[in-house]
Amino acid sequence: DRYFDGLGSLTQKKIVITAGPTYEKIDPVRFIGNYSSGKMGFALAEACAAQGAQVTLIAGPVSLSTTHPGIRRIDVESAEEMYQAAVRTFPDSDAAILCAAVADYRPEVQSDEKIKREKTGDITMHLVPNPDIAAALGKMKQAGQRLVGFALETTNEVAHATEKLERKNLDFIVLNSLKDKGAGFRCDTNKVSILEANGKLTEYPVKPKNEVAGDIVEKLASLLK
Ligand code: CTP
Ligand code: CA
Repeated sequence: DRYFDGLGSLTQKKIVITAGPTYEKIDPVRFIGNYSSGKMGFALAEACAAQGAQVTLIAGPVSLSTTHPGIRRIDVESAEEMYQAAVRTFPDSDAAILCAAVADYRPEVQSDEKIKREKTGDITMHLVPNPDIAAALGKMKQAGQRLVGFALETTNEVAHATEKLERKNLDFIVLNSLKDKGAGFRCDTNKVSILEANGKLTEYPVKPKNEVAGDIVEKLASLLK
């Protein structure tokens, strides 16, 4: 096809990527969200496409655009919508990279009308758990398919990442360091370690997010050979 130059390490591979935050509606004008910019996921989409992959980018609410013609973008808002798009597209894919900062909980009730201040005193909001997209894809995963997750931990980083890798049936997990300067949300650089299912841990220095994406894509390509 016209995007195939025959040289990329992911040529003819189909990759699903989730990116950005999710917004969980409270009422028509309010939501629960998080600070994820989507930059890491979008950098991954560009890096995969640059290696010849056909990318399906499932994006939460972000103010980013994509340029590469090898990227098909599906815009979603909530975790539930992201989950639906991911389980629909994963069976036909070679790999999924779960880079989104999915809200773990959503309000049980979404008000059809704007909640008014004068009618209410204190508010107690009941939250219910959202589906775990990574774990759902981990259950669906067939022989030859690969699954990549992210983890952002504040304590016992490697132990928590190992637990997530196993629980979600991932092939490797990218561990974001919060302790280091130049890492994390709303930042153009990142410092990561990659923990593989075989226990191998590789640490990378602080790099621009597009170069971090390159390291992740290289690891994924080596597992998809
Ligand atoms: N993830 C997902 N769907 C969710 C929650 C998380 O796909 N509902 C994915 C993230 O995209 C990431 C990985 O799972 O790749 C780990 O996310 P994280 O929030 O660290 O894990 P949780 O299982 O939500 O655990 P925690 O209680 O630490 O938030
Ligand atoms: Ca979480």
